[in-house]
Amino acid sequence: MAYFMGIDVGTTGTRAVIVRPDGHLIGAATGEHQPMRMEHPGWAEQDPEDWWQATTTAVCGALNAAQLKGSDIAAVGLSGQMHGVALLDSARAVLRPALIWCDQRSQVQCDRITQKVGAERLIQLVLNPALTGFSAPKLLWVREHEPQLFGRVAHFLLPKDFVRFRLTGEFATDVSDASGTLLFDVAHRRWSGEMLSALELDAHILPRAFESPAVTGQITRETALLTGLSAGTPVVAGAGDQAASAVGNGIIKPGISSATIGTSGVIFAYTDSPKLDPQGRIHTFCHAVPGKWHVMGVTQGAGLSLRWFRDQFGSGESWYAERIGSDPYELIIREAERVPPGSEGLLFLPYLMGERTPHLDARARGVWFGLTAAHTRAHLVRSILEGVAFSLRDSLEIFKELGIPVEHVRASGGGSRSFLWRAIQADIYGKEVVTLETSEGSAFGAALLAGVGAGEYSSVEESARAAIQIGERLSPRKENSEAYSRLYAIYRSLYPAVKEFAHQLADWNEKASTA
Ligand code: XUL
Repeated sequence: MAYFMGIDVGTTGTRAVIVRPDGHLIGAATGEHQPMRMEHPGWAEQDPEDWWQATTTAVCGALNAAQLKGSDIAAVGLSGQMHGVALLDSARAVLRPALIWCDQRSQVQCDRITQKVGAERLIQLVLNPALTGFSAPKLLWVREHEPQLFGRVAHFLLPKDFVRFRLTGEFATDVSDASGTLLFDVAHRRWSGEMLSALELDAHILPRAFESPAVTGQITRETALLTGLSAGTPVVAGAGDQAASAVGNGIIKPGISSATIGTSGVIFAYTDSPKLDPQGRIHTFCHAVPGKWHVMGVTQGAGLSLRWFRDQFGSGESWYAERIGSDPYELIIREAERVPPGSEGLLFLPYLMGERTPHLDARARGVWFGLTAAHTRAHLVRSILEGVAFSLRDSLEIFKELGIPVEHVRASGGGSRSFLWRAIQADIYGKEVVTLETSEGSAFGAALLAGVGAGEYSSVEESARAAIQIGERLSPRKENSEAYSRLYAIYRSLYPAVKEFAHQLADWNEKASTA
């Protein structure tokens, strides 16, 4: 039997999964990453070598877990955190740590791009506004602040494409991940010559862009020795983590959306043609389904907010979970079950890394609002779960405004493992929340794309029909939904009311930390 491997280069770790053609998961393993480096508020860097180390750990671990040999794997698919900038010199050595997706330092460069290209022309060329999350402003930041180093740049690679380079020796990417660079003509699915010349960037530093199921290279002999994979195994283009997760969640036709809560949180919908938000609050990117597109709204700090809480206030749970072989998040979330919907008047704005949808604001800051002496730690936790779901509802509201249909929402990512978080989502979205038999999201989607590339399925749509099964369906509870809708109105008004002060604080802190 043919097996397919999906590798997802995430933010906190790299995950490898092995999948049978019927979608059954037969082995999986994760290699952890070092925590991202945040030298200044809003900065976020990772070492590409760390992604590679984690990949070898994950691939060996998955083969072991499945008790398979490399020769059993018919093809490999890649997925990864989007927008990150890995830079290599002509000897193919890494030049500096990568600026990753949530790095917010490039607002000045965004403003310059918008001024130079013109806001309207920018949308015509790449279908999206200049945002600090995207790659091009990060490239310009490095050029401006580290000109000597930038002069040595021979290759710019997105995170999963750096891993591809190590696996196959090839420089390639896929159209969905390329869409998040701000250098890609999303409507025509090719690099934008006009953007490159406007920003004075050399086209030679870019990898070739392929449709997601296309084979871009083979595992090299050297990599085979390091990973246990077989030399010559085809590696397909794959997709950015959100498009790959959408494939794994069956978001391949209109009407179904997914809510993926990983480090970031994303509401995603399929579209037959490029669909634009005139205000640029949601992204319009190529889908991993050839010739199709998607829209998505992004919450920068979704799982990140809960992780932050665990790291700062959950050392007891982390210690205890390790002793009893349990998950600290499970213990932390358990407390929140006792708190009623609405956290007794406590609201959390999850803007710990600035915010994209709907504010497009790198200087947005997190807020706990409504604190009283009656609130406990459990209220803080529940308000985080609710605040993230409110923030994701912001994206669903924009979809509604744009006439993008959403019949139900498929929950995936680490956040979907919690029943409470799924129930809160159903109540806050006012929509049925569905989970699938396989909740592996991005890595699973990457494995399905490998199956398409190897000819096991005739198309991405066919892979979804063959491999995706519905698990649980959770309906919203009317009473809770009504209460949450009233609270959502307050949530929505809160950031505009404090925005000016968030900016003043961010500026004050920047000055204080550089003084
Ligand atoms: C999507 C985005 C994040 C990262 C990390 O635009 O920035 O989802 O891909 O998961």
